[in-house]
Amino acid sequence: MGNMNVLINKARIEKRLDEMAKEIEKDYEGKDIVFLGILKGSVPFMWELAKRIKNNVIFEFIELSSYKDNKDTGVLTFHKDIKDSIEGKDVIIIEDIVDTGKTISYLLKHLKEKNPNSVKVATLLSKPSKRVIELNIDYEGFKVEDKFVIGFGLDDNQNLRNLPYIGYIE
Ligand code: IMP
Repeated sequence: MGNMNVLINKARIEKRLDEMAKEIEKDYEGKDIVFLGILKGSVPFMWELAKRIKNNVIFEFIELSSYKDNKDTGVLTFHKDIKDSIEGKDVIIIEDIVDTGKTISYLLKHLKEKNPNSVKVATLLSKPSKRVIELNIDYEGFKVEDKFVIGFGLDDNQNLRNLPYIGYIE
């Protein structure tokens, strides 16, 4: 493995999480919110965001991927769907990083059939330069350059998700 570099440190992430949580609280006053986390990378972000929010937050998870051994296969595979009904609920998709946008756009289509009241998108990171499908992100933590990033849930072949900061390998 090459040198590990810090791209976004813990303090910056925490400050941004506070801001995002305030924004969500303002937008969802008095409402329950379903946080729909995309496994596995969203787990730390989901918890760190949820614990800063006063609303009642319901946790749901979905697992789908287009990445195998860090290569975009172009095919999205569904591994785990939502167990409980989200009909009439206010859902926020929780993602670690939006890259090409394929995962989120596919998921948005899939969720429509489940008749939620509303669906928004929250992502810790976004790589706008890699976008293939244009989509609206409602809550975005940080924009990052086209670097392969790891930590805070993001993995390098399933490794290093537990780093408490966003790093990249050189
Ligand atoms: P998209 O469908 O291309 O937007 O892909 C999003 C998914 O690709 C994320 O959930 C990550 O699992 C993965 N991904 C994209 N860029 C990175 C990266 O820099 N590090 C780790 N995973 C990434």
